[in-house]
Amino acid sequence: MKEARVTLERAFQIGDVDARMYGSFVEHLGRCVYEGLYEPNHPAADASGFRRDVADLVKELNIPIIRYPGGNFVSGYRWEDGVGPVESRPKRLDLAWRTLEDNAVGVNEFASWCKMVDSEMMLAVNLGTRGVEAALDLLEYCNHPGGSYLSDLRIKHGAKDPHNVKVWCLGNEMDGPWQTGHKTPEEYGRLAVETARAMKALDPSIQLVSCGSSNTKMPTFPVWEMETLSHTYDAVDFVSLHQYFSNADGDTANFLACSLETDRFIKTVIAACDYVKAVKRSKKDIMLSFDEWNVWYHSLTKDADEMRDRPWQKAPHLLEDVYTFEDALVAGCVLITFLKHADRLKMACLAQLINVIAPIMTEKGGGACRQTIFYPFLHASRYGRGTALLPVVMSPKYDSKEYTDVPYLEAVAVNNEEENELTLFAVNRDLTEDMLVTLDLKGFDGYRFAEHIVLENPDLKAVNTVNAPDAVRPATRNDSMQDSNMLNLRPASWNVVRFQKA
Ligand code: AHR
Repeated sequence: MKEARVTLERAFQIGDVDARMYGSFVEHLGRCVYEGLYEPNHPAADASGFRRDVADLVKELNIPIIRYPGGNFVSGYRWEDGVGPVESRPKRLDLAWRTLEDNAVGVNEFASWCKMVDSEMMLAVNLGTRGVEAALDLLEYCNHPGGSYLSDLRIKHGAKDPHNVKVWCLGNEMDGPWQTGHKTPEEYGRLAVETARAMKALDPSIQLVSCGSSNTKMPTFPVWEMETLSHTYDAVDFVSLHQYFSNADGDTANFLACSLETDRFIKTVIAACDYVKAVKRSKKDIMLSFDEWNVWYHSLTKDADEMRDRPWQKAPHLLEDVYTFEDALVAGCVLITFLKHADRLKMACLAQLINVIAPIMTEKGGGACRQTIFYPFLHASRYGRGTALLPVVMSPKYDSKEYTDVPYLEAVAVNNEEENELTLFAVNRDLTEDMLVTLDLKGFDGYRFAEHIVLENPDLKAVNTVNAPDAVRPATRNDSMQDSNMLNLRPASWNVVRFQKA
């Protein structure tokens, strides 16, 4: 058995957790929208075509904000195609995913669905094939109350009240050569700042996200951030980060350490933002929006074949990763890493939400299930609201293929003052040994152990499917706490340890 020590002090505050850290992402990609949230012929569909069973699973996750409609898709998207009478909407060829898009769902339908799942839209504008004018038009259509051409058009289309979209992404992954309308930092920075200024002139209440790098391996990272922000800094509120994780080579110890890369990524982007702040003698801080993150690799080979050979079709099976138990551990480590940066990281979107690299899987005409990664996200969203506290963690460490000094114990805590509740989130990365953690809670007199939720499984490769939905599911442990401060964590486990004021 390994041993570790966690010291928590009420005053060691990282920052308030912005609920938008538990955001997600819906793209017109594969079966995320069609056969995902929208399937008019499904027995569980409502009058608008939305699957009630899927909406219930989404609601369970309590997601405050959902990014839409892409992703790579947005860089060729004409938003006007998705509004007005459905029967007259055009069919288009989406180059990003080689897919036929019939536009049955557009911004008004998505807004209605967001209401259904108690969430808000975060919209992305197309800065690939389009620019300032289309972005302004969409903003006027969505947010202006009425009395102008496009706001009146929205009303005519049945959406009487403005959608009041608060957060807008200025394009998507514009640093990536795969992006339709890919740009150099100079080209993107100029277009983004002009779009941002015009959008804020139309609606000063909005918040804008400047595109950061698509991942840390991009040759332009982090110069992209510094150069683009040198243009956009004063006009935007956030910069975006995207990261996907893979265990393609089957080295689980290394895979579980990948959140160390996330930590480095966040620190580097903060440094880039603060460098531009210093150059500009600015008083303003740019916040981080980690608006795409997840494990993504299980489906890659199949998708590459499909994208090459398949005829143009609607809602093909793309990016349908079936997640393993170990993927859930990685999701847990990433969420802990986000919470450790709660002072600067204010939004994050689990990419994506349904079917496409998603916590929820559906079958056409059939059931829906919670994938393994559903659970750490659910727990963080449910118990990770309040003030993030930085624990002092003394843990044994290991070296893996790509990472050194990987702590076996990954941990963070959130203090929810309103609920008189303190929650410790922890992953034991050790694949074979239990960990005995000595807990030292300072400033939490009167708090008692309330519950220990654990996600563990003897098979790292165990998966949930619609036919076997509960192979991986959380359980409550009653035997893990001894002497009120000695906590046992099982090997390869995600843990949520809750304390409440008596
Ligand atoms: O989420 C899938 C894709 O990953 C998105 O469309 C794109 O932004 C990223 O490369």
